[in-house]
Amino acid sequence: MSSKYFPSLLLLLAFLLFVASSGATKVVEVGEICKKSTNPSFCLAVLNSNPGGKDLISLAQYTIDIDRANLTNTITLIKSLIANSSGDPKANAHYKNCLSYFVVDGGAFGAIEATQQYLNKRDYVGVNMRATDVHYFVDYCISGDDSPGPNPPPFPDTSLLPKYAQVIQDITEIILIISNLLEGT
Ligand SMILES: *[C@@H]1O[C@H](CO)[C@@H](O)[C@H](O)[C@H]1NC(C)=O
Ligand SMILES: *[C@@H]1O[C@H](CO)[C@@H](O)[C@H](O)[C@H]1NC(C)=O
Repeated sequence: MSSKYFPSLLLLLAFLLFVASSGATKVVEVGEICKKSTNPSFCLAVLNSNPGGKDLISLAQYTIDIDRANLTNTITLIKSLIANSSGDPKANAHYKNCLSYFVVDGGAFGAIEATQQYLNKRDYVGVNMRATDVHYFVDYCISGDDSPGPNPPPFPDTSLLPKYAQVIQDITEIILIISNLLEGT
């Protein structure tokens, strides 16, 4: 090999080492991720159903996509619950309040869109912060309160909404765990 290629080979090697050490190729066993979850069996089922790459960025992308889909389903459900509860002012007010936490001024849906923007920029602290916002918005909907101090009794909701909301919380927790792991890369 001619020595004139040597410097560019060194640069290529440095580049490959850089790529290998960044989140793009960082692989963490699904079991390691899910043992940090409060719902490990759900976490394992979700991450093992990922048809794409096994690296952390691919798993972050996969869980953001699921969260977005679940938020969309839940918003559709809430709109239907609002329409059907017009004869029940307490229920109607509860669902309208929930819709505002999901969409008004961004809400939970805007926050999940923001996690996507931050993931694109490889800003994992940003991903983590906005996923935390998703968690709080959904919690405010279910608890019915975002003010400090003790919550009022939650609305006794027998609809599918609490179940859908819990799925979002569980998926969002996985995004929080993965973005924490990515922060170290
Ligand atoms: C959440 O999204 C997943 C993937 O799209 C879907 O299989 C599941 O039914 C959704 N669940 C809810 C409650 O929307
Ligand atoms: C709202 O009412 C319609 C018509 O009765 C029904 O098909 C639909 O399932 C109801 N939606 C919810 C969320 O209960």
